[in-house]
Amino acid sequence: MARWNVISESRRAAERRENTGPHQIAATTAGVKPETVVTPRCRDDGVHSITDKLLKVEVGCMSKDTKGESQAVSERQALSAHLEAVREGERKRIAMEIHDELGQLLTALRIEVSLLRQKLLPDSIAVQKAEEMRMLIETIMGVVRSVVNQLRPAALNFGIVPALEWLAEDFRHRAQIACCLHVVGPEPCLSEMHATGVFRIVQESLTNIARHSSASQVEIRLTKSDSEIDLVVRDNGQGFDMLVDRLGSYGFLGMAERARMMDAHLKIDSHLGSGSVIRLRIQDDPPRS
Ligand SMILES: Nc1ncnc2c1ncn2[C@@H]1O[C@H](COP(=O)(O)OP(=O)(O)OP(=O)(O)O)[C@@H](O)[C@H]1O
Ligand SMILES: [Mg+2]
Repeated sequence: MARWNVISESRRAAERRENTGPHQIAATTAGVKPETVVTPRCRDDGVHSITDKLLKVEVGCMSKDTKGESQAVSERQALSAHLEAVREGERKRIAMEIHDELGQLLTALRIEVSLLRQKLLPDSIAVQKAEEMRMLIETIMGVVRSVVNQLRPAALNFGIVPALEWLAEDFRHRAQIACCLHVVGPEPCLSEMHATGVFRIVQESLTNIARHSSASQVEIRLTKSDSEIDLVVRDNGQGFDMLVDRLGSYGFLGMAERARMMDAHLKIDSHLGSGSVIRLRIQDDPPRS
């Protein structure tokens, strides 16, 4: 069970008044000790444009545990990172197998049906049936392509920008919501692990937008500056109340875990009626020679 606790507005207001102490948010997962997350006050991070009242969740880690407890936490985090790597590896392997094996068989079947069609009497019922079979095979090939891409888009092999372009296009098509991708600066140079992590975070953000937001516009902005990559996914939907406990919701927790594994900084901002913003900051990998 997952639970997000956010400090109340009144406490934030009190902190603002006193000009002391950070905004604090605790993220709690079953069996895991609550971690205190700190948002430095008054930091101009450019995300609070939706409204000044936006509540902010930052994902980070400040351990106050005893030695044994923090070792247990690091072991759990290492295990979670390992399981995630295994899962991504499996997805990649299954996607390749479906693409190569099933794809090849379907291509062969399509050729066979086309050859068969040529041998049949023109305008016969058999020719009509052969044509229907060919169209059916085309449909199955489309389904296979879609399954392969859902498992792991081939575009990821070409870098994060082609992968996000594919994701935005797929989202526009499936959700029927306007979605634009802006890439500012040079293309970020990310390792496969980081590119996959960024991709999965954007994918979950878009899934949430399609499921929960009723938005009409989505913007994905990827900015590369010096050694940092800044990714923002913003929607103009109904937003949500971050004070409400979301039992049985794992999307944000998954995002937070991925961000932690990449040593990245994840921030989720939303306010009822004012859309939502997901922001990820990550160190760019040094260019490979
Ligand atoms: N873009 C959004 N617009 C409006 N509400 C959102 C948005 N993103 C998330 N939410 C709200 O936050 C909740 C938590 O999201 P989260 O992704 O953690 O879980 P979920 O989508 O409900 O389930 P899942 O575990 O399948 O992801 C959602 O149930 C929804 O109420
Ligand atoms: Mg979700």
